[in-house]
Amino acid sequence: MTSIKNKIDKLRKNILNYEHFYHTLDQPIISDAEYDYLLHQLYNLESKNKKLITSDSPTQKIGSNLLTKFKKITHFFPMLSLENTFDVNGYFNFEKKIVKFIDINKSKDFCCELKLDGIAISIIYEEGVLVRAATRGNGFQGENITANARMIQSIPLKLKGTNIPKRLEVRGEVFMLKSDFLQLNKKYKINHNKYFSNPRNAAAGSLRHINPKITAERKLIFSCYACYFFTEIEKELTTHYTRLMQCSSWGLPVDKNIILCSSHIEVIDFYKKFEKKRNFLDFDIDGIVVKVNSIELQKKLGCNTKSPRWAIAFKFFSAERISVLRYVKFEVGRTGVITPVAYFDPICISGVLIKKASLYNKHEIERLNLHINDSIIICRSGDVIPKVLNVVKTMRYKNAKKIVFPVLCPVCSTKLLENSEEKVIRCHAGLTCDAQKKKALHHFFSKKSLYINGLGPKIIDELIKKEFVNKPIDVFYLKDIDLIKLKNVGMKKSIKIMNSISQCKNTTFKCFIYALGIPGVGEIVSEKIANYFIKLDKLMNADILKLNSIEGIGKIIANNIFNYFSIVSNCDMVRELIKKAGVFWDVQRGSELKIKQTIFFNKKIVLTGVFSNYSRIELEKILIDLGANISTNVSKKTDFLIYGKSFGSKFYKAKNIRIRIISEKELNSLIQI
Ligand code: IVH
Repeated sequence: MTSIKNKIDKLRKNILNYEHFYHTLDQPIISDAEYDYLLHQLYNLESKNKKLITSDSPTQKIGSNLLTKFKKITHFFPMLSLENTFDVNGYFNFEKKIVKFIDINKSKDFCCELKLDGIAISIIYEEGVLVRAATRGNGFQGENITANARMIQSIPLKLKGTNIPKRLEVRGEVFMLKSDFLQLNKKYKINHNKYFSNPRNAAAGSLRHINPKITAERKLIFSCYACYFFTEIEKELTTHYTRLMQCSSWGLPVDKNIILCSSHIEVIDFYKKFEKKRNFLDFDIDGIVVKVNSIELQKKLGCNTKSPRWAIAFKFFSAERISVLRYVKFEVGRTGVITPVAYFDPICISGVLIKKASLYNKHEIERLNLHINDSIIICRSGDVIPKVLNVVKTMRYKNAKKIVFPVLCPVCSTKLLENSEEKVIRCHAGLTCDAQKKKALHHFFSKKSLYINGLGPKIIDELIKKEFVNKPIDVFYLKDIDLIKLKNVGMKKSIKIMNSISQCKNTTFKCFIYALGIPGVGEIVSEKIANYFIKLDKLMNADILKLNSIEGIGKIIANNIFNYFSIVSNCDMVRELIKKAGVFWDVQRGSELKIKQTIFFNKKIVLTGVFSNYSRIELEKILIDLGANISTNVSKKTDFLIYGKSFGSKFYKAKNIRIRIISEKELNSLIQI
């Protein structure tokens, strides 16, 4: 029991500390997922050990502790929080409980609203004039931010229209547009050399700024989602929806997306619609809020200590999850780079099961200070690639084993060397390291290189194992009797491979350069080099300066190319491939006509987001083939921004500086000639 009590105490202490950073200082030091995880751990422990629950436990409180710089205000009645659900079942349970209370003959309307991701405030109007505004604070007492609220343009200082009650309280969310947040951060970085981490924190910091003039400059927005009249008018307006509409007619901002739903089908449609739309909105939402529309029914249902029983936050799936690190594998890449990969207990993020994530390099392992069995926070960056965001340090086991980067190659035991400029650690054994040999051969004969149909990784691995092949050139000397000796290769398949071997010799300069697998020389760089040098000899004799002078080729890649052709065995292999194996290409290939037919010819293009029909690389290649230049950042010189799903800040930047924005659908029609 004492060890459980210690565990609970430790969790409480940590959670309270994190809450202080989040609510009071507006500087969260852990992610929402990590916070939710710790709170759930505490809930679980407390629910199994009810005697240990104390009134000051974070599970029993509503909100934050107060910042001392603002005077305290006691709310007329508590500003509650909302119960959360992340899935349809949670929503069904909520609805089931409500339906029990409903008079069969009465309509069971629900009011569906967006869950705005900002800061809750309360504003009091007396005789239609704003007299007081407060933050939620700890739910019972908030901070007096009247002077600051008066600076927010969308908050009316005086209500308009008739029937205005003697006293009116409105509650709602203060938030910042994503586009304004980006602008603010740019200025903030210059003046303070730090960033706000998200629009919510920027809004919180701006609303609670000691100087209300700063609040005025920061372009905050208010949206009202609840109101209380304290007078007879309450009896006339019997639903939540009509009350909000009444507020709107008095000049208070109410979100236009609010709808009434009479069935769970409509509620779920609303949820799905905004789950899809959320990335296209210029403000953050983290779910929808479903509220019982009838005020009479709301009163019947009542509230518990933290939240009302008549409302629920139906939250969008968080793109962050916690798992447990089981081991780290150090993988040897094609060019000898050692990449650590974290393997963890499988988890589902945005509907996809993931169990591993790249840790990129030594510095990332050091940043995370990873230990075996650590609880780690995983996200899918850009909603696609799994990434280890952080470690839940409070959950670390005693005597846990620290992850250390190996000194020797895990495949061939050659001493690893660090290249500080490239920030990578490499095994320099080249084709004598089995891992590199296999990958180099896979690459040489892969689709974008000198493609051999039928010569997949399994066959290549077997050819290496049987010592038929050691380097790419050996493939050109293979005979069908060698191939027939392999597993699963019959006469038919060996003929197919042999035919493809002779066909792959007819290639392009670009594909040939790409096939060599020089570090950093991908498709785009290969294309640039091929277009620049046209002839192989010129490329082989180029010095670093010349290579570096080509647009898009930096010092590191220039060095890699130069180093590659400085090694005699590499030059010999290249010459042998051409002179003996018979690899060749036409100098003038490709149709100029096709290139000039689309609007992308000679244009600067930036891509953002994830595309449904193409990988990033494929799309870049298509556009380059059409004569476009791809850049990474949006600037005034950008001609088009092409966006896919889950696009990032580039979208808003392009919108702000009026760059033409093209969706994937539009792109498809534009590139069809
Ligand atoms: S109603 C008693 N409606 O979500 C119910 N809250 O997690 C009070 N929020 O503190 C809240 N959008 O800051 C309500 N349409 C909406 C909302 C909303 C955002 C915030 C609000 C609240 C928090 C609860």
